[in-house]
Amino acid sequence: MKKILVVHGPNLQLLGEREVSVYGKVTLKQINEALEKEAGVLGVELEILQSNHEGAIVDRIGNARREFSGVLINPAAYTHTSVAIRDALAACGLPAVEVHLSHIYKREDFRQHSMTAPACVAQVTGFGKNSYLLGLRGLVGYASKTKPIHSSKKIVKKALIARKRK
Ligand code: DQA
Repeated sequence: MKKILVVHGPNLQLLGEREVSVYGKVTLKQINEALEKEAGVLGVELEILQSNHEGAIVDRIGNARREFSGVLINPAAYTHTSVAIRDALAACGLPAVEVHLSHIYKREDFRQHSMTAPACVAQVTGFGKNSYLLGLRGLVGYASKTKPIHSSKKIVKKALIARKRK
């Protein structure tokens, strides 16, 4: 079964209490439950990480290559600042989709630039909890049409072994 890594960035553990006028009353637990339900429908398995630490996020994405078929990420404030997370996404070779609860292009100037989106295949912004669900759906569809770098290497290796046997 395909596995998807879901990453929630800093302060998202406070959803439901934090800036309710911007992010609504939905909690991270409710988002994760909705994601698990959607994953069941799509036939994929999720590993979910929330971290307030840039290095922890970089470490997990860096190790994701062999285990996962894609990354669904809300980098939160790191969206606007983190070259390290952008580079980790680019380096892992997995398709990634960036999601945001709020419409970042309608907010303060500093939020209107995403450092991380260019390392992703798509971005979904402004639909609240549904940004995650739409992002997951899009990512799974995309990942099923493309082969991650490690699996295409495996295919080449298998083909070489088969050729040697002949
Ligand atoms: C956010 C938008 C970011 O600008 C902000 O720093 C967040 C949440 C969103 O989901 O709308 O923490 O990523």
